Amino acid sequence: MAIFSDSFFNCWVLLLFSTLSCSLFVSGVKLDAEYVVKMQPLQPSTVCSLSKDSNLSRLLTVIHRYGPCSPLQTEEKPSHEQIIDKDRTRVDSLHHRLSTASNIAGKDGLLDVSIPAHTGNLLSTGNYIVNVGIGTPKQDFSVVFDTGSDVSWFQCNPCNDCYLQNDPLFEPAKSSTYSSIGCGSSECTQLDTHSCSANAECRYDIEYSDNSRSTGNFGRDTLTLSPSDLLPNFTFGCGDSNSGLFGRADGLIGLGREKSSLISQASQKYGAIFSYCLPSLSSSTGYLSIGSGSAVPPNVRYTRMVSYASDSSSYYVKLVRIKVGGKKLDISQTVLSGAGTVMDSGTVITRLPQAAYSAMRAVFRQHMTHYKAAPALSILDTCYNVSGHDEVWVPAVELVFDSGASLNLGFDGIMYGSPSQACLAFAGNTKADEVSIIGNTQQRKFTVVYDISDQRIGFGANGCS
Ligand SMILES: *[C@@H]1O[C@H](CO)[C@@H](O)[C@H](O)[C@H]1NC(C)=O
Ligand SMILES: *[C@@H]1O[C@H](CO)[C@@H](O)[C@H](O)[C@H]1NC(C)=O
Ligand SMILES: *[C@@H]1O[C@H](CO)[C@@H](O)[C@H](O)[C@H]1NC(C)=O
Repeated sequence: MAIFSDSFFNCWVLLLFSTLSCSLFVSGVKLDAEYVVKMQPLQPSTVCSLSKDSNLSRLLTVIHRYGPCSPLQTEEKPSHEQIIDKDRTRVDSLHHRLSTASNIAGKDGLLDVSIPAHTGNLLSTGNYIVNVGIGTPKQDFSVVFDTGSDVSWFQCNPCNDCYLQNDPLFEPAKSSTYSSIGCGSSECTQLDTHSCSANAECRYDIEYSDNSRSTGNFGRDTLTLSPSDLLPNFTFGCGDSNSGLFGRADGLIGLGREKSSLISQASQKYGAIFSYCLPSLSSSTGYLSIGSGSAVPPNVRYTRMVSYASDSSSYYVKLVRIKVGGKKLDISQTVLSGAGTVMDSGTVITRLPQAAYSAMRAVFRQHMTHYKAAPALSILDTCYNVSGHDEVWVPAVELVFDSGASLNLGFDGIMYGSPSQACLAFAGNTKADEVSIIGNTQQRKFTVVYDISDQRIGFGANGCS
């Protein structure tokens, strides 16, 4: 077996298992369809290495919530297992929301008898945050961003019930540009759940499926994306009663497809397009770019954005092939398409139809027989203890979408965990009608472009480190 290292595949440096304390140093060369990866111990990475400051407008720095660059340093860092358990709750709520939505629409045209009061918003388990400003003069906040929800919100003063957050609460009274929204206005009535205060102001209420919640006045103010990019009259929730699993984040920015999302509100001014790159290391940074201002890298290839009437919020793509170790898995298109495939920045682990996952796991296991099996990590059932090996071979995994755009995953998109419990970072759905989800572990390091005007989603390798 000859290891070749030409200039293209030459010794990349990867940090493995980067979600929490980085515990390994990994460098690898690509060998045919497999990766050979050398590992040696490394101290946990506690130093934040900020990427070079870009001067492009509307380019927000994306920071891993639990890494050394995060302003939310006081947050307790969850274990890998806790992260995956929380991820399962998010996916359950996503599946529930979508099945509820399709019941309401009714394939046979009949309405479900019990339409729930809430469509079941997702948990904000997103592991990535950005800094934005709101108000005039601006007040700065670190917020989670989420392609799986629409309404943005900040915790506001005065507050009845706010959790402890990183920064002082947003003070609308100190902003010269804040205004409340009347409860008869279209911005208010298009919200899933809204009500009227005693003085006829709009109240929003987002209830997440784990009982996390944000409620308050719905208002508008100037959102500062970068010093030169102000979005006046941005509508958002000014939360005065918030509780749940938001950690120390100051709020949330919704990037879904609905009218209330940031991207819909910014589209007239900047164009209906955004892109991001999620960093693979907790100690490095990526970016979130809003609008058409910054150039899309030339290596981005596109696949068509698929729409479902039952879900007007999420971004869907069509998965057409999965390759493991360079070979196409034998899965029918019907199985692979399943109930659709959604892109989600907030889900950690990619979910596939059960039959597709089983096929992937079987081939993966055949490639991994020289490694000692390790116990399952929550829902991750294919794990190895690779500590003690200084070279680990992992078969390459490639997710191919309609029109040929693909995610050809590196080591850190394939494995998740720690050296003594390194797991295949995929899981199977339990029911045939559950959507597949492309999670953030598999999106890391890729430029992911959401081009809503042209109804396409693009992927480009090496968007960030
Ligand atoms: C960044 O852009 C601003 C305004 O567009 C300009 O004044 C400044 O010189 C630029 N900085 C760099 C490092 O290019
Ligand atoms: C913002 O909204 C207010 C009230 O509706 C309106 O008077 C103002 O012209 C708007 N500003 C911009 C820049 O759209
Ligand atoms: C993993 O393997 C190493 C080396 O073989 C061993 O020392 C260690 O105890 C194993 N860890 C677990 C959790 O089994």
